Amino acid sequence: MPDLLRIGALVSGNGTNLQAIIDAIEKKELEAEITVVISNKKTAGALERTKKHGLNGIYLDPGNYENNREYEKEIVRLFGKNRVQWVVLAGYLKIITDELLSAYPDRILNIHPSLLPAFTGLHAQEQALKYGVKITGCTVHLVEAGLDSGPVIIQAAVPVLENDTVETLTERISKKEHQIYPQVLKWISTRRLKIDGRRVSILPSSSPSGNEIINPGGIV
Ligand code: GAR
Repeated sequence: MPDLLRIGALVSGNGTNLQAIIDAIEKKELEAEITVVISNKKTAGALERTKKHGLNGIYLDPGNYENNREYEKEIVRLFGKNRVQWVVLAGYLKIITDELLSAYPDRILNIHPSLLPAFTGLHAQEQALKYGVKITGCTVHLVEAGLDSGPVIIQAAVPVLENDTVETLTERISKKEHQIYPQVLKWISTRRLKIDGRRVSILPSSSPSGNEIINPGGIV
């Protein structure tokens, strides 16, 4: 049996996306293991979830490091120690520097609650409501130096309803996030992701059913 895909996660918040990945692994939909979860927030719900599932969770206090680069040097060291192959940003609310990017080129994923390139940065759902768009959604993309600007792997769309609040819209988007993030990891674990500059394609499955969690078209 081939080695399981080894994932390292960076988190700051509630950790519902991390939970979706943990669930997919536990249900054996995803052949992977999360070897370490690092949080920059001591009270992050994501760390609680990590502990609850008996995984390796670490609170790394940014205050103990001179700057973000030094902080990431330690992250890279911990990822190396835990033999991480792919890095998953799961609600990690810190800018990524070249320290991490150069250690994991084209091996860092992020999930963002909008149809990129619309509504980058913080409060994407609020931005969508203020702008008045009728459709928004979420995007999983590879991370590069720019803010929320790396190559898109998959996007899922949701309607914006007349009486939506930030909370109701967030809830609708979250449900899609929890489907597409594990799906992308599944494509990676089965070596189906083909990266060609900014164009990312999903190779056909070698197994008859494909055993997809969702459609492979790159849009949901
Ligand atoms: C998710 O909605 C994710 O898309 C967003 O933070 C939330 C984390 O939720 N990320 C960003 O806005 C990154 N720019 P979670 O901690 O429950 O997974």
